[in-house]
Amino acid sequence: MPAHAELEGRTALVTGGASGIGAALCAELSDRGMAIVVADIDYEGAQRVAAGLRQRGGTALAVAVDVSDPDSVERLAQAAYAEYGSVELLCNNAGVLLFGTIEDSSLGDWRWLASVNVEGLLNSLHAFLPRMSAQTGWKHVMNTASTHAFLADPSFTALYTATKQAIVAVTQGLRHELREQGFGVTLLCPGQADTRILDSQRNRPERFGRRADEPFGTGDVPLAIGVDEVARRAVAGLLADAEIVFALPSEGLEQFRGQLEEWWRLADDALVRHTEPLA
Ligand SMILES: NC(=O)c1ccc[n+]([C@@H]2O[C@H](COP(=O)([O-])OP(=O)(O)OC[C@H]3O[C@@H](n4cnc5c(N)ncnc54)[C@H](O)[C@@H]3O)[C@@H](O)[C@H]2O)c1
Repeated sequence: MPAHAELEGRTALVTGGASGIGAALCAELSDRGMAIVVADIDYEGAQRVAAGLRQRGGTALAVAVDVSDPDSVERLAQAAYAEYGSVELLCNNAGVLLFGTIEDSSLGDWRWLASVNVEGLLNSLHAFLPRMSAQTGWKHVMNTASTHAFLADPSFTALYTATKQAIVAVTQGLRHELREQGFGVTLLCPGQADTRILDSQRNRPERFGRRADEPFGTGDVPLAIGVDEVARRAVAGLLADAEIVFALPSEGLEQFRGQLEEWWRLADDALVRHTEPLA
């Protein structure tokens, strides 16, 4: 069973820590006495976040990483362990979003989404789990998926949703596979948070081909929950070893509940048909 959570004096590593939810997680965990590794493809942004934490009296290191590249993630792990000797909390949070129809999306769009959101998670787990497994005491993995993973109607966001569904599956498997080794595992599912996620292509490497159109623009997320609240809910959840943490604006709760119920209704209808004789 996982040990009782203790944050003070421990180390947290946050991918995608330079912006949005990741930066807010860095601040919340730093305020609770953790040393922070701010890891991001945007190294200048990561340095800014780390400097801000140090100015507030925290301990922080910025590291450049492209989570889609296993060698880059291995270098990140080496840098984190060289600096702090252990990582007790691994927040796999880096992620990118694209809106658009399936018909209009390119294979490059899919490869970019999948290589950051899904392979990035696997690269991180492969680099950090062996190291964390060798540690005694509290250890926890928190993976950022999305409420999108539970949408019964993911039109215009199906590819992104597919990557977030993969994160749900990996995280739930992980929670059960790692229990015996004393890990806690939490799935963080934000919905409509106030970040730069709509401008994800600012970090799209050229190797994934032409930039996709942005049918909904690249500006602010509408009707959004603040990232500080997302981070507070996330940390409360991991302290309680919650399996899932939802963090969305309160105005969106009922609509989201409707999506979950729609999923259940689809499955239930199919099960009822399964009991009927075949024509
Ligand atoms: N904002 C929302 O409404 C929302 C909702 C649900 C889930 N999420 C998820 O939250 C997570 C954080 O996103 P955010 O909303 O804070 O967006 P954001 O764009 O503000 O932050 C994402 C960070 O990930 C970094 N990043 C992108 N590609 C990377 C790569 N290859 N390697 C390392 N870092 C990389 C970016 O540089 C950026 O700093 C993502 O996984 C996203 O899918 C966000």
